[in-house]
Amino acid sequence: MRIVLVGPPGAGKGTQAAFLAKNLSIPHISTGDLFRANISQQTELGKLAKSYMDAGNLVPDEVTIGMAKDRMEQPDARNGFLLDGFPRNVSQAEALDEMLTSEGIKLDAVLDLEVPEEEVVKRIAGRRICRNDSSHVFHVSYKAPKQEGVCDQCGGELYQRDDDSEETVRKRLEVYHTQTEPIIDYYKAQGLVVTISALGKVDEVTQRAMEALKRKD
Ligand code: AP5
Ligand code: ZN
Repeated sequence: MRIVLVGPPGAGKGTQAAFLAKNLSIPHISTGDLFRANISQQTELGKLAKSYMDAGNLVPDEVTIGMAKDRMEQPDARNGFLLDGFPRNVSQAEALDEMLTSEGIKLDAVLDLEVPEEEVVKRIAGRRICRNDSSHVFHVSYKAPKQEGVCDQCGGELYQRDDDSEETVRKRLEVYHTQTEPIIDYYKAQGLVVTISALGKVDEVTQRAMEALKRKD
């Protein structure tokens, strides 16, 4: 399947994507994770992206679209993928459509995760990420690691993302409402959107998502 995951910062996109991608045997492609990998490897792209990310703004389309396209062209994404954090505005959605049309393929579903703003703020405030792999995600109370500050999956050090400060989160939410939410209407017009509540336990949300995606398969 070819799926786009949308939802506000902290909705649980990365958390759900890890399970959904495994269940559906498709790669999880997160533009946020790709940027963070570039930042930790101190590439030119990483240096550029960091200034935008730390301010809570979108990284310019000119670099983001090319990076996403390169990743989608990897052999493991030939038969499907789960996009997390891309597209993030209407021009990225149009670029993705062009890309897919030129290959003669289509999206199967856009999964929209709905969460009230006060819950998003709690989830982000307690989030801790692994230094070795930013897909290893924990929460100080909702998904506490066995040992404080240490990743259960690889033993790496857990840290708080630079863009998870209260001020930057407020900016990211504003950017989500003004720039990203319009893609939901864009995809509604194509009949692709399924909206689910992302409240409740992680596995309950995964089950809800799998059922919603079955209806689109
Ligand atoms: P990105 O990394 O995509 O961040 P985001 O969209 O803001 O989303 P988050 O990673 O904050 O949250 P999430 O929904 O994945 O939640 P998570 O699963 O971690 O983007 C970061 C930046 O990169 C952007 O601001 C932008 O600058 C740039 N960027 C990225 N893509 C771009 C693009 N296409 N164009 C331009 N710029 C781009 O969960 C959050 C916490 O909640 C965790 O601690 C988790 O353990 C916990 N949790 C999850 N589910 C539950 C649950 N059911 N119950 C309780 N706790 C839960
Ligand atoms: Zn780890």
